[in-house]
Amino acid sequence: MAADIVVKNIGYLATAQGTQAVGGEKQNELLTLHNAFIAILDGDIIEVGEGEAREELLDEYTAEIDAEGRLVTAGLVDCHTHLTFGGWRENELKKKLLGVSYMDILKEGGGILSTVTETRRMDEQELYLRAEGFLNEMVAHGTTSLEAKSGYGLDLETELKQLRVNRMLAEQTEIDIASTYLGAHAVPLSFLSDKAGYIRYIIDVVLPQVAEQGLADFCDVFCEQGVFDAEDARRILSEAKRLGMGAKIHSDEIFDIGGTAVAEELLAVSADHLTATTEEGIMRLKHSGTIATLLPCTSFYLDKAYAKARDFIKNGVPVAIGSDFNPGSSPNLNLQLAMNLGCLRLKMTPYEVLTAVTLNAAAAIGMADRIGTIERGKQADLVLWDVQNPNELMYRYGTNRVDTVIKKGKVIV
Ligand code: NIG
Ligand code: FE
Repeated sequence: MAADIVVKNIGYLATAQGTQAVGGEKQNELLTLHNAFIAILDGDIIEVGEGEAREELLDEYTAEIDAEGRLVTAGLVDCHTHLTFGGWRENELKKKLLGVSYMDILKEGGGILSTVTETRRMDEQELYLRAEGFLNEMVAHGTTSLEAKSGYGLDLETELKQLRVNRMLAEQTEIDIASTYLGAHAVPLSFLSDKAGYIRYIIDVVLPQVAEQGLADFCDVFCEQGVFDAEDARRILSEAKRLGMGAKIHSDEIFDIGGTAVAEELLAVSADHLTATTEEGIMRLKHSGTIATLLPCTSFYLDKAYAKARDFIKNGVPVAIGSDFNPGSSPNLNLQLAMNLGCLRLKMTPYEVLTAVTLNAAAAIGMADRIGTIERGKQADLVLWDVQNPNELMYRYGTNRVDTVIKKGKVIV
C-alpha cells in the first residue's frame, strides 16, 4: 500500500515504544534512528525505518516532507492543564512579590475563587474562543494532545459549561482532548462553612449529570491541607469511578495529607504535583501502577520545591510531565519550558523527559494505545524540531524550537 505522506531525511528520530507507561530504566530507553523516514496513510503511521522509504510505499500521489536532517519526535502530550477559564490573575503578581503565599491568596477569596467569578461570567462561546486560542498556542509549541480540566465553575451550570467547551474543542479541532471534571478544586463561597454540603452537591447533583452527558473521561480532586482532605477525595473519586470515570488526584502539592494512599486504593491513573511525597507515597504509587505526573513549571512559578523525580524513577514509577497551564500557579502553556525544567530542576535525562511528555503522558490520559510514540499502527502525530537531537532540544530554552507539527497525518503548523 502506498503512503499518502512520507517524512524523509529525518536526522534523528527519537521515540519511546509501546502502549503502556514505562518507569525505571525503561523510561530512559528510546528507539533512535538516523537518516530515517516515516510513512503515513490515512492519518496513521504505516512504516518507520532508516534510509529511503521502499518503492512500494511511494506512488505518484505520495507527498514528501523533507525534514532536512531535523530531530523528529512524537507530538507532545500535555497531560495536566486547566485550559478553560475566564480572566487572568496578573493582579496577584504584586502580592506574590510581597511574599503573600498561594494558599493565603486563596483564603482571602482570591486565587482559584476569583477565576471562578470570571469563568461564571463568560458565556460558552466566549469561553470556547479563549480556550481555542490557548489550544492553538499550545499546538504551535508542539503539543498535539492534551488533558483539560474544569474546576473554575464549581456550580453545576458552569462546570458543565467548561466540560462542554472541552468536548466542542475535541470535536471541532484535530487535537485529542481528555476531559476531566475537577469540581473539587475549591469550596465555593456559597458553601463556605459547609464543605460537607459541597461534597454532597458534587456527589448527588453534579457527578450524575457529568456522567449522564458523557462529559468527562476523568475526575480529579485538589487534595490539600485547607482544601479537600484524603477522605473527601476518597468519597468523590469512588463515586466518579462507579460512574465510569478514571481517577486523578492533585496530591502532595504543598503538604502530604494522604493523597497517594487514595491514589493507591482507587488505582488512580495519575497522581499529580507530588512535590511533598515521601518514600512511602512513592511505594504506594508503584503498587497501584499510578503514573506520577510532575509539574515543574508550577514549582518554578510558586518558587517552591521540585518533585524528587529521581526517587520516582529509581523506584520504577513512570513519570509524566505536564504544563499545569492555569491562571494562578502556572500561566504557561509551552510544554518545552516544562521539558527544560524536567532536565535542569528534576534532574531527568533528555530521554527520560521525552518519554515523560509523550508515552507516559499519553498513558496518563488513557490514550497510549494510539498516541505517544512513533510506531506502526499509531496515529501520525509528529513534531519536526528545529534542533539536531534531544540534548539540543532540552538545552535550548526560552524560544520555540518547533519547525513543523503534524497531527493525524496533516501538517497543522
Ligand atoms: O494545579 N493546585 C490546584 N490547582 C491548580 C492551580 C489553580 C489556580 O491557581 O487557579 C494547580 O496548580
Ligand atoms: Fe493543576
